[in-house]
This record gives sequence, C-alpha cells and structure tokens, in this order.
Amino acid sequence: MNLENQIYVRKSCRKYLDDEIDMDSIIDFISSVEPLNDEIEFYYNILSSDEVNIRNRWSAPYYLAIYSEKKGNYLENVGFVFQQVSLFMQSIGIGSCWDGLDSVKVKNPDFVILIAFGKSEKMTRDISNFKRKDLSKISDFEDDLLIPAQLAPSAINSQPWFFKHSSDGFDVYRVKQNIVKRQLLKRWNPIDVGIALAHMYVANRNSFEFNIKDDVEKLNGHIYCGSIKI
Ligand SMILES: Cc1cc2nc3c(=O)[nH]c(=O)nc-3n(C[C@H](O)[C@H](O)[C@H](O)COP(=O)(O)O)c2cc1C
Repeated sequence: MNLENQIYVRKSCRKYLDDEIDMDSIIDFISSVEPLNDEIEFYYNILSSDEVNIRNRWSAPYYLAIYSEKKGNYLENVGFVFQQVSLFMQSIGIGSCWDGLDSVKVKNPDFVILIAFGKSEKMTRDISNFKRKDLSKISDFEDDLLIPAQLAPSAINSQPWFFKHSSDGFDVYRVKQNIVKRQLLKRWNPIDVGIALAHMYVANRNSFEFNIKDDVEKLNGHIYCGSIKI
C-alpha cells in the first residue's frame, strides 16, 4: 500500500458497484491516522445510503459520516485526517468522493461532512487529466514541491490554497472568496486546505511538521491557516 502514488492518479468517484466491503482495514487505518491537531476529538460512523439525505444526483453504497469537536482548526483537521483515509481506500481499490451536499438523517451537532465510498470500476486517471490551477497561481513562485497540494481535491474544485515560501517551508493561506461564493464555500474551504496539507504530509512523511505562527505577514485577500516544514 503506497498512499503517495494515489495522489497522482486519484479521482472523485461518483459511480459505484453494490459490492460489499470488508471494513476492517479501513477501521484499522483510521485508528492509526496522523491528525493535524491532536487536541481535537473526532469520530465517525459508517452508514448506508438509506441513512443519508441525498441531494447529489448520484449516490454510493456507503458513507463515512464525520463528526468533530468544533474548536480551533477542526475543519482543516477533518480534511487532513480523512483525505489520508480516502487515499488509503483508493490504494485498496475503493473509490470515494467528499460529499458536502448530502447530510445524515440522524441529526447530531458534531456532524461535519460525509465521504461517499464503495467499490468502483474506474477510479484512476492520467496526471494530464487533472484540472488544476498552475503551480505559479498557488504560490509566490512556482515550485514542484507543491505538486501534491496542487492535485488535491476541493469543493467545486475551488482550490482555495496559497503557499508562501518561508525560511524553512511554507506559510499556508486560504483564499478569501467573493461574497457570492463565500456563502457556499465558507464551511468547505478550510476542509479543502486540510486536504491539500494531507497531500503534502503523505508526500513528505518523514519531514512534515505543521505549526501556527503568531507573527506572520498578512496577505491581502487571504487568511493565514498555519505553516509547514517539509
Ligand atoms: C469539501 C468537499 C466537498 C465536496 N462535495 C461534493 C458534492 O457534494 N458532490 C460532488 O459531486 N462532489 C463533491 N466534491 C468533489 C469535488 O467536486 C472534486 O474533488 C473536485 O471537483 C476535483 O475533482 P477530483 O476530486 O476528481 O480531482 C467535494 C469535494 C470536497 C473537497
């Protein structure tokens, strides 16, 4: 199982087979996953499609319902943890898709988001088939080290991340959306940043460090999320 390789071939799956899945390896993986912030409790349920209110035009046989204590950078933490899970699933032949439109039927104030998943036949692609911003648009200068973040999935492919080189890594920012997009994306964009950070972690597992600095330069139109060493 190599999670890093999945970054360059993965895609969101919206077409699933009804095959049953043995959940044990997924449950094991989640129990040992690296968080971004180990002070935030999270938990999850595995649901079937009849336990979910479906607003997307597609559905999946299974859903991970993700719940978290709502404090600090919990949205980034959820993105960071569960993108590793999504890459793990992809590595064992299970497709998935982050699912912000659907919701759990049993209301719970800790609920954050769903990930749809299931067996799928077509779940990889060539790197030339990723629709992503140029590297020069997601950083102060073009840097191949950021390819794993560039390829990360995000809500309506908004790619709201920006990486500014620092003396020992990158300061990471989230793009402030205009008033029209803000309403839709405000809950999801911090998750997207966590997802991009998960890709940076998976691609630099031995050196990755995340911290939030007190004195970081303000960037017009951006919100500071934290800094990484890789
Ligand atoms: C937080 C989040 C929420 C998403 N919600 C939905 C959704 O409700 N329906 C959907 O079809 N795709 C959803 N997506 C998938 C994105 O549309 C997809 O990741 C993006 O278009 C890039 O495509 P790719 O994942 O195939 O690279 C979501 C992705 C993220 C990260």
